[in-house]
Amino acid sequence: MPEPQRAIFLEGSRHHHYLEYTLNDATDNAALAQSITMARTAAKSSQVAMVLAFGPNTWRGLAPDQTPDALQDFQPISGPGHAAPATQRDILIWVHGEHHDDVLDLALAADKAFQPTGAAALDLTGFVYHDSRDLTGFVDGSANPKEDARMDAALVPDGETGAGGAFVFTQRWVHDLAAFNAVAIPDQERIIGRTKPDSIELEGDAMPPWSHVSRTDVKIDGVAQKIYRRSAPYGTATEHGLYFLAFACHPARIQVQLDRMYGVTGDGEYDHLIDYSRAVTGSYWFAPCEDALAGL
Ligand code: HEM
Repeated sequence: MPEPQRAIFLEGSRHHHYLEYTLNDATDNAALAQSITMARTAAKSSQVAMVLAFGPNTWRGLAPDQTPDALQDFQPISGPGHAAPATQRDILIWVHGEHHDDVLDLALAADKAFQPTGAAALDLTGFVYHDSRDLTGFVDGSANPKEDARMDAALVPDGETGAGGAFVFTQRWVHDLAAFNAVAIPDQERIIGRTKPDSIELEGDAMPPWSHVSRTDVKIDGVAQKIYRRSAPYGTATEHGLYFLAFACHPARIQVQLDRMYGVTGDGEYDHLIDYSRAVTGSYWFAPCEDALAGL
């Protein structure tokens, strides 16, 4: 298996910085390769980690032979009562590490590298909230795959186009915390599908078919559609939520979860979490393996 971007799997960072760029019309492959090399050089001499990912058209333009056919722009989803907007952008940079100042230094260097080629459409800092909780107060990440199962969930397997790379999906969610906090805790637990203090999954009749876990824990032909989530809370007192960031070996795994969340899979259910949080961005990306990046 070609070497993946190791920073995808580095856990424990308390500080995160996300940058999404839209490329200028005049940007050609040579200029873009120069920005990528500059950003990667800055990352190599930094204390913190950086993951680079590309929108479908951008990666196809740079490395058509290493672009899986399944890599396509995110399309808006319109379900009964709720919609997921598509804001497909061209470059995603995720910087993460132990200290806010080191993370900012690398984000500044990466931004300098991409200033000649694009404009930042999203520039967001994320953080670990208490013991890895979402701002709703629920632990986020409990059912994430562990150890080697993370790679199986996240990476395109050997022998396939783009092997060692990962499909990526991002969405910025804005929470209505006042509304969520007004819900009694047992009802919040039914919305998520886990208990609040200790993140124990609800079982049997206690687990509603419309809980977040019921909508995202999917098996197809006996295969669990596992993805590797690296989301983090972001925000201020007046606007806050979750920057959802997930890696998958195939985008269908992510799409089926989204379709089930938004209630467009024909079973009459949707994810009641989206009554309290709304997505305001959405993009698919590809995070190529190290060799593919170095080859640019
Ligand atoms: C407002 C946005 C979201 C919030 C606050 C949120 C929060 C949570 C929480 C608290 C859990 C339970 C603990 C855990 O296993 O991590 C969870 C599970 C999960 N979420 Fe989300 N999530 C959000 C959006 C999404 C989206 C957009 C997807 C998929 C595209 C997703 C996929 C999953 C998956 C796969 C699980 C684990 C299900 C299982 O196998 O038990 N989540 N999420």
